[in-house]
Amino acid sequence: MAPTAAHSCRLVVSLLISAAVLRPGLGLYTVNSVYGDTIVMPCRLEVPQTLMFGKWKYEKPDGSPVFIAFRSSTRKNVQYDEVPEYKDRLSLSENYTLSISHARISDEKRFVCMLVTEDNVFEAPTVVKVFKQPLKPEIVNKAQFLETEQLKKLGDCVSKDSYPDVNITWYRNGRTLDPSEGVITTLQRQVDPATQLSTVTSSLVYKTTKNDIKIPFTCSVTYYGPSGQKTIHSDQAFFDIYYPTEKVTIQVLPPKNAIKEGDNITLKCLGNGNPPPEEFLFYLPGQPEGIRSSNTYILTDVRRNATGDYKCSLTDEKSMIASTTITVHYLDLSLNPSGEVTKQIGDALPVTCTISSSRNATVVWLKDNTKLRSRPSFSSLQYQDAGNYVCETNLQEVEGLKKRESLTLIVEGKPQIKMTKKTDPNGLSKTITCHVEGFPKPAVQWTITGSGSVINQTEESPYINGRYYSKIIISPEENVTLTCTAENQLERTVNSLNVSANENKEKVNDQAKLIVGIVVGLLLAALVAGVVYWLYMKKSK
Ligand SMILES: *[C@@H]1O[C@H](CO)[C@@H](O)[C@H](O)[C@H]1NC(C)=O
Ligand SMILES: *[C@@H]1O[C@H](CO)[C@@H](O)[C@H](O)[C@H]1NC(C)=O
Ligand SMILES: *[C@@H]1O[C@H](CO)[C@@H](O)[C@H](O)[C@H]1NC(C)=O
Ligand SMILES: *[C@@H]1O[C@H](CO)[C@@H](O)[C@H](O)[C@H]1NC(C)=O
Ligand SMILES: *[C@@H]1O[C@H](CO)[C@@H](O)[C@H](O)[C@H]1NC(C)=O
Ligand SMILES: *[C@@H]1O[C@H](CO)[C@@H](O)[C@H](O)[C@H]1NC(C)=O
Ligand SMILES: *[C@@H]1O[C@H](CO)[C@@H](O)[C@H](O)[C@H]1NC(C)=O
Ligand SMILES: *[C@@H]1O[C@H](CO)[C@@H](O)[C@H](O)[C@H]1NC(C)=O
Repeated sequence: MAPTAAHSCRLVVSLLISAAVLRPGLGLYTVNSVYGDTIVMPCRLEVPQTLMFGKWKYEKPDGSPVFIAFRSSTRKNVQYDEVPEYKDRLSLSENYTLSISHARISDEKRFVCMLVTEDNVFEAPTVVKVFKQPLKPEIVNKAQFLETEQLKKLGDCVSKDSYPDVNITWYRNGRTLDPSEGVITTLQRQVDPATQLSTVTSSLVYKTTKNDIKIPFTCSVTYYGPSGQKTIHSDQAFFDIYYPTEKVTIQVLPPKNAIKEGDNITLKCLGNGNPPPEEFLFYLPGQPEGIRSSNTYILTDVRRNATGDYKCSLTDEKSMIASTTITVHYLDLSLNPSGEVTKQIGDALPVTCTISSSRNATVVWLKDNTKLRSRPSFSSLQYQDAGNYVCETNLQEVEGLKKRESLTLIVEGKPQIKMTKKTDPNGLSKTITCHVEGFPKPAVQWTITGSGSVINQTEESPYINGRYYSKIIISPEENVTLTCTAENQLERTVNSLNVSANENKEKVNDQAKLIVGIVVGLLLAALVAGVVYWLYMKKSK
């Protein structure tokens, strides 16, 4: 047992020496492993021929060792020490490579492989580093909006579950936000006591400008992995940028040069800020006090007196103002006389159509829907002057602005009669015409003396311009007097004409006798011819 005791004593001594001599230092062999993976630590010692056993330990911060695994070279068995932290996680292979499964942050230690012979102890330390890649960073607690010229918290960039420490960087439009540009970032780290993983939050306080409209903000997390420094970027975040109105504009609907009396005008005021102003003051012509309204102000049924300058301003900043001039177009037309006018033939009738309007307007005259060359004016009315007159005008610039008035002129006259007589060239008949003039249309009646009968076998011409004629054709056998009576509401006029009997009555009788004579002669000749023929036939039999 002596050699064993001596051996044990030597072993303990050498263990103590090794603990004292092999302090952590530079150039130590390091195993980089990923959180959750298996840490594999080769022993890194040549296995001596006389090896009795191998052992693994780690060193506590104060330097004291904690043995965790043992493998006997001779008996080929493995033992793991009762260390709660490593329970069921260790595996020591035949070549003394130690594997630790489910790597944790707390595995970052200095482990030592010890190979023990009868007279020596060989040691090789290995430093374990564990890395945990953070999750993709996220921008949270985003500001609903940012305001120009105001320092405001934009949001938090959160990087979760990392080890070792990470850095967070903010970017505007892909470029690093420089802290000198009025940017303030504050970093906060939180370590989960169970996992020792960090959650790092960087808050960005930022003074925005209008240049940030639609510009993406991102953040990135820079971390160390087993193979060096790496970076993960967050998704883009956009912010609604609020900025004050720098210009006010006023709009008029309908378009300014088309406003006419009776229209409803909508004044619309716009500010170029974000959000746009919701309220404005509207100033009507000649009124220094503004009327508070939404961004529109409606004037209904405007009259010409609404012409003038209109303005609108912000409610809080009255110097931010816009103005516009509105002209309400109008067109007045007055026709004198107008409506239905009844005049007597030969009367004089002055007609005037006066226009007053916001622009020069031209007048068009129509008579019975036909355009007249010049304006009508009557010094002595004729029947053909009667009709429907329209005086019409419109403003070309303003759609829908037109006016018209009409005059229905009636020219009345008592019936006037003129009779004519025409004898047929052969003298057999006579055409008597009664020319009648008057309005309303006179009714014509013929009477013939002697018999005193009323003739209705007449031919009438159309009634045009207050005039027409009635015609009869007679063949009188005695001297007669024809009377033409024309009557309308105003008067009854009578005219008569003496017609002598047909002078060539005898001539007609002679001609008839001659014709009868010829016919009788022909008949006699035919009779003679017939008798001769009969006699001849009888004789030949
Ligand atoms: C030790 O053994 C393990 C398997 O048991 C093997 O994967 C590893 O490569 C070996 N290491 C050395 C240094 O021989
Ligand atoms: C974080 O920033 C510091 C200082 O700039 C630097 O020394 C360190 O290496 C950075 N860490 C990472 C993970 O980039
Ligand atoms: C103007 O508005 C009133 C209601 O406010 C409406 O009755 C009228 O028809 C409108 N006039 C025109 C020309 O649109
Ligand atoms: C404009 O004239 C109308 C009558 O045509 C009148 O009722 C209205 O009050 C006037 N408006 C202004 C602003 O003078
Ligand atoms: C309108 O009338 C005025 C005079 O009444 C005249 O000086 C002006 O030239 C006219 N304008 C047009 C466009 O006809
Ligand atoms: C006039 O006409 C009516 C019917 O058309 C007739 O009955 C009458 O006999 C006529 N008179 C003369 C005189 O021809
Ligand atoms: C008819 O009138 C003519 C003159 O116009 C006259 O010569 C004639 O004697 C008259 N005949 C009768 C029957 O009256
Ligand atoms: C027509 O004849 C009558 C007599 O038959 C006479 O009184 C009258 O004056 C004559 N009229 C005209 C227009 O010649």
